[in-house]
Amino acid sequence: MQRKTFLAQAGILLTGLPMTGLSNSFTGPMKSDTLLKLEDKSNENPVVDETYWKIVRSMFNYPKDFINLENGYFSPQPFSTEQFHQAKEHDINNRTSWFMRREQRDAIEQTRINLAEFLGCDTEELVLTRNTTEGLNTVISGFPWQKGDEVIIGNQDYGSMVAAFKQQEKRAGIVIKIAQIPLVPKSDEEVVNAYMSLVTSKTKVIHLTHMINLSGQLLPAKKIIDAAHTKGIEVIVDAAHSIAHIDFKPAELEADYLAASLHKWLCCPLGAGFLMMSKKHIIKIWPLMADDEFSADNIRKFEHQGTKPPQTVIAISEAIKFHNAIGSKLKQDRLQYLRNYWVSKVQDISNVNMNTPNTNDRSGAIANIGVKGYTPQQLADKLLKDYKIFTVAIDHRYIKGVRVTPHLYTSLDDLDKFVEAIKSIAS
Ligand SMILES: Cc1ncc(COP(=O)(O)O)c(C=O)c1O
Repeated sequence: MQRKTFLAQAGILLTGLPMTGLSNSFTGPMKSDTLLKLEDKSNENPVVDETYWKIVRSMFNYPKDFINLENGYFSPQPFSTEQFHQAKEHDINNRTSWFMRREQRDAIEQTRINLAEFLGCDTEELVLTRNTTEGLNTVISGFPWQKGDEVIIGNQDYGSMVAAFKQQEKRAGIVIKIAQIPLVPKSDEEVVNAYMSLVTSKTKVIHLTHMINLSGQLLPAKKIIDAAHTKGIEVIVDAAHSIAHIDFKPAELEADYLAASLHKWLCCPLGAGFLMMSKKHIIKIWPLMADDEFSADNIRKFEHQGTKPPQTVIAISEAIKFHNAIGSKLKQDRLQYLRNYWVSKVQDISNVNMNTPNTNDRSGAIANIGVKGYTPQQLADKLLKDYKIFTVAIDHRYIKGVRVTPHLYTSLDDLDKFVEAIKSIAS
């Protein structure tokens, strides 16, 4: 069989994909068409231009046999990123060790430059990781803790990060204090005080979740960081849900450490993330895996994991192009519009409990809803079984309900179906 025919039958042959040749000559398929369409926002208010969002929807790979309102775990990739990633894997497979030995480093460094520009940070403060968990564990496990050092975490922080601090409690003798964050704060100061009222002379670190995954609540991170810095306390930010979701440049927060996953809101392939670390801290943090290649003050020492798939890292640049073609501001505005679209229709129904502030300064796409008489799991099960709507049950000490997360490809029709389902269940 001809090679081309075989590849086409196997579904591998992609438009514009060079079948051989050096990797740096690679150009992704569908690129120009996709981006041109996305950049063309002819409507005066693109946030509500359903014709535009229909085009965006057509560019995503999403399930058709149920309505996916669980986009918080990870986001489907747009076709342009998915195909770039697959084609890059094919390309590297063709180039074999040649790519790994002679081209990998340049490709990774180019990604670092592109991602640093996107985040507004210095390339020498940016680690390319597999996810938030790896980024934050690098800091929490690698910090030179002394017995009795105190850390302040939030009552709704992500479980793996709490586990990482608890490990240090056992291993290094640190003391964990827990800030009580209200579900719907009355003011930023209330949140800042929840952390700062726990500060003592032994407090070394505050760990905060920029957007709480359980509810979607956005915390006033900059105010907490500034208050902590006045007391000489370092701040670690879990930005898993705010990056490429909320329109901000993470470097402007001036956190000491900030990590996120890019397979969430940047729509990268699974297993892409980053850690930003202020230059002055690099030398004192131990890497998770020992490195013998870079000096102790080189940010790259944190990337030592042995052989790993470079195509995942390289695809980050393609995902940034897709994101930028829509634009950070429009993306945030649309996601908040989608949240408010359904929340405003159900929040006043009796038996309905909203666990997320419904204001744009305190939330993005994610909201959490409970219905009286249903446990979170019963509600999630009913939505799936009777209405084919996929959400996730959140049965947490402080929050009980289902987390509902639309994405850019979510249609208003999907949200109308969700609203009707809630009205019927609540009645
Ligand atoms: C707030 C928060 N932090 C960290 C993580 C961990 O992300 P990952 O599994 O990609 O490391 C998540 C995952 O959902 C999250 O919601």
